Amino acid sequence: MARELSEVGVVGLGTMGAGIAEVLARAGLSVTAVDVSDEAVQRGRGHVETSTGKAVARGRLADAEREEILSRIRFTTSRADLAAAELVVEAVPERMELKGQLFAELDAICPPDTILASNTSSLSVTELAVTTGRPGRVVGMHFFNPAPVMKLVEVVSTVVTEPSVVEDVQALAARLGKVGVTIGDRAGFIANALLFGYLNHAVSMVETGHATREDVDAAMRLGCGLPMGPLALLDLIGLDTAQEILATMYQQSRNRRHAPNPLITQMTTAGLLGRKSGRGFYTYARPHSAEVVPDARTPAPGAVTEGARPADRVVVVAATAGAADALRAALPDGGLDVPVLLAQRVPEGGRGVRWTGEVDELAGADLVLVAGGDEPEGTRELFAAVGEATRPGAVLATTSATPPVVVCAAASGRPADVIGLHLAGRAGASRVVEVVSAVSTGPDAAATGHAFCAALGLPAVSSPDRAGRVVDALLFPHLNDAVRMLEAHYATADDIDAAMELGCGYPVGPFALLDAVGLDVALAVEQELYAESREPGLAPAPLLGHLVTAGHLGRTAGRGFRDHPSR
Ligand code: 3HC
Repeated sequence: MARELSEVGVVGLGTMGAGIAEVLARAGLSVTAVDVSDEAVQRGRGHVETSTGKAVARGRLADAEREEILSRIRFTTSRADLAAAELVVEAVPERMELKGQLFAELDAICPPDTILASNTSSLSVTELAVTTGRPGRVVGMHFFNPAPVMKLVEVVSTVVTEPSVVEDVQALAARLGKVGVTIGDRAGFIANALLFGYLNHAVSMVETGHATREDVDAAMRLGCGLPMGPLALLDLIGLDTAQEILATMYQQSRNRRHAPNPLITQMTTAGLLGRKSGRGFYTYARPHSAEVVPDARTPAPGAVTEGARPADRVVVVAATAGAADALRAALPDGGLDVPVLLAQRVPEGGRGVRWTGEVDELAGADLVLVAGGDEPEGTRELFAAVGEATRPGAVLATTSATPPVVVCAAASGRPADVIGLHLAGRAGASRVVEVVSAVSTGPDAAATGHAFCAALGLPAVSSPDRAGRVVDALLFPHLNDAVRMLEAHYATADDIDAAMELGCGYPVGPFALLDAVGLDVALAVEQELYAESREPGLAPAPLLGHLVTAGHLGRTAGRGFRDHPSR
């Protein structure tokens, strides 16, 4: 039977500590909230007042309830005031010496049965536990930012944590309206271990000029339905925190996906810490504000369509009727009232492509969407035929993920006019178009692609002609990391999905998404990404390949990472 806690403490009143104090007080617990100086305490009180004030303004909380919540929190600079606490959560900066010292001090102040919990995001809870004379009563209690909103608490149990302590903390998490997921003491636990490899990858895309910060963020919000793009999320988390978490994880894992990208380190050194300092990847109205203000790197409105040619006559060319139908269905309703030409390959002789439909339509086209299919030879022949049948300057766009745009461009006879228009969208109905430029693509052809998307009301991002472009290039290695986690018996598929849904607001967790997308599709994308980069961290997880071989292809096959009996 779990113990019902009523008197608790929080040490460290930064964004997380103040949020945790608010969550505890909202659940009716009496909270002693401690920080080192009057100034820090005032800042912490300010966080709670602002957050609960906003809840009142939104009609989510009555004024009287807010007063009660605030009255349940005693703010103090004296750690000795924690003498009556049954549980203390620490949320001081992520430095082992600081936390170790604090735990040793709390051990002396608090009664022997007080549970000492750390909100550490990646440091070893075991190391913290042994700084005390009660290692069995030390746990991790890892909240997610913003603590009042995110529903996950990772309950970190070390090899010496007493089972009753885990039970008490799980019961407390439930009382706070959170879902507790119990995990062993490994750097990054579940959610951070998975999240930060992806965030780091997103930073490297910006650092190498693969895509702009706006495009990376839009791609992941609109293409995957994530609540925030990775760079905006890093600004929320704090670049210094991210740097510390990645460095600690890299030290343990030696996985290059965790080696902090130099840009993160440089921004931290320069004090560009994100929302808390008023500037990170984006610039904010003031420190701690969520309001983004334009800065020197914000693209000028309309600049992206400069040089665009109008696309009044659009023709769809498809190797199969299925591809043409799929393309029409994917575009906004009624947005594309255009002729469709079907092409058949002729095995021998002639141009290799025979048209069904009005070939003359091609001569007047401003933009031709070519759904060639994944087979390179057929696509080459199709582009050669389209290149010949259209007028110079007409933009030819491949809508297929493979072969690369440059292959289509080379075959077309006029490479400057060839782009990719790839409808990306991996979770639910969310969608974004990747306007792909090959090395040979002219700037006005890409601008025409953007203008076409704008006319259809489809959000678009610019992408280089690289495997996975932006969305898949970021998403699939992230999903692959989840498979590696499962393969290593690090956590169950259910816990990993719950961690990402409840801790990071994902619409569906990685395994639910893999089952929906298809494991064979995921494997093919991973193989392509790995073949291009030869990055060891991008090599497909062996488990993925084994499941595909075994016919566990996901939802449509009735079985993937989970069973789907009623397909
Ligand atoms: N404090 C308190 N409440 C907040 C808040 C904050 N800082 N920010 C937003 N909220 C509340 C709002 O008041 C609103 O509440 P209501 O629905 O009751 O009115 C609700 O959250 C939704 O807010 P908004 O409508 O303003 O904004 P969004 O719908 O865009 O949601 C978000 C904001 C909840 C932050 C959402 O974008 C999200 O889920 N982002 C992902 C966050 C994430 O991934 N967190 C985990 C980071 S990793 C981590 O923390 C681990 C650590 O170790 C680093």
